[in-house]
Amino acid sequence: MEERVISGEELEEDLTDLNIRPDSISEYIGQKDVKENIKVYIESAKMRKESLDHVLLYGPPGLGKTTLASIIANELGVNLKTASGPSIEKPGDLAAILSTLEPNDVLFIDEIHRMPSYIEEILYPAMEDFVLDIIFGSEGSSRSIRINLPKFTLVGATTRVGDLTSPLRDRFGIISKLQYYTNEELSKIVERTSRVLQVSIEKEAAYELASRSRGTPRIANRLFKRVRDFALVEGNGKIDLEITRKALCRLKIDEKGLDEVDHQLLLSIIHKFNGGPVGVESIASTIGEEVTTIEDVYEPYLLQQGFLKRTPRGRVVTHLAYEHLKIEYQNSIFES
Ligand SMILES: Nc1ncnc2c1ncn2[C@@H]1O[C@H](COP(=O)(O)OP(=O)(O)OP(=O)(O)O)[C@@H](O)[C@H]1O
Ligand SMILES: [Mg+2]
Repeated sequence: MEERVISGEELEEDLTDLNIRPDSISEYIGQKDVKENIKVYIESAKMRKESLDHVLLYGPPGLGKTTLASIIANELGVNLKTASGPSIEKPGDLAAILSTLEPNDVLFIDEIHRMPSYIEEILYPAMEDFVLDIIFGSEGSSRSIRINLPKFTLVGATTRVGDLTSPLRDRFGIISKLQYYTNEELSKIVERTSRVLQVSIEKEAAYELASRSRGTPRIANRLFKRVRDFALVEGNGKIDLEITRKALCRLKIDEKGLDEVDHQLLLSIIHKFNGGPVGVESIASTIGEEVTTIEDVYEPYLLQQGFLKRTPRGRVVTHLAYEHLKIEYQNSIFES
């Protein structure tokens, strides 16, 4: 599949510029409520000299969950160990990570909803009583040993909080939902990135870029770099409104930040399914994308922008989407 500039997924390139990732809570832009509360919990944990309660962060990809997890560790002044749900395959994998923890450390587990259920069961006593029960041998002749762990903080991140089992969810004392960023917040993020990368951007250009970044810092930062490329090669190196618009047009990203796949998704519902309602499986097979990709990456923003609606009978394209796509609205009895 062609790499989408606006996909929320983490790409190789994102990982190499760790320097554009803020490392203190004061540099973390937006997410005011989440930030203010977490600040209090961190402060309190430090005053009590105890580990911070376990934290669950959820929300669409690229909104800053990983960034926030590392900021939490920084602010607590402890080590950060990271793992991802699907990479923990055997009980030994989890035991290996847990045994490296020092008191009050942060263990970050990304995509925690994809952790195998037998791993999850080992995690429960680790989260609750800070012990690890390891079972050897097969049924009948098995024995187990119990290892004491230092008190630690588990920070879990997920794009699909509904896929978490309730016993796991219930073991997090702090559950925070990250929201899409406003254009003003994204502008600040773009301006910050421009300072870090030492490529200047005009204010109006930063705002334009922000307003086409689907409320997502990761996308804003990625678009910033592509616009920089156009400014360098086809402009005079300065990022102004004109070169920004030109670059975004070349990237086929419209005024609302929708790209070709979003257009295809909306248009297929309009033309092939009369505007809906239609099941997500049918949409997926029509446009050749995975159901989970549609649900996790494309849909959340379309829903948030009010271009798409979820009904018990399936997805419906709204009149706002017709307007945006400049297609005459066929009044649907399902939308109202
Ligand atoms: N609040 C913020 N302020 C400034 N920059 C941010 C903020 N949140 C995220 N970023 C930037 O956006 C990028 C993506 O953030 P991050 O990797 O933390 O997202 P994520 O929510 O973990 O995504 P995923 O769900 O895909 O793992 C980071 O490189 C960081 O530079
Ligand atoms: Mg992440």
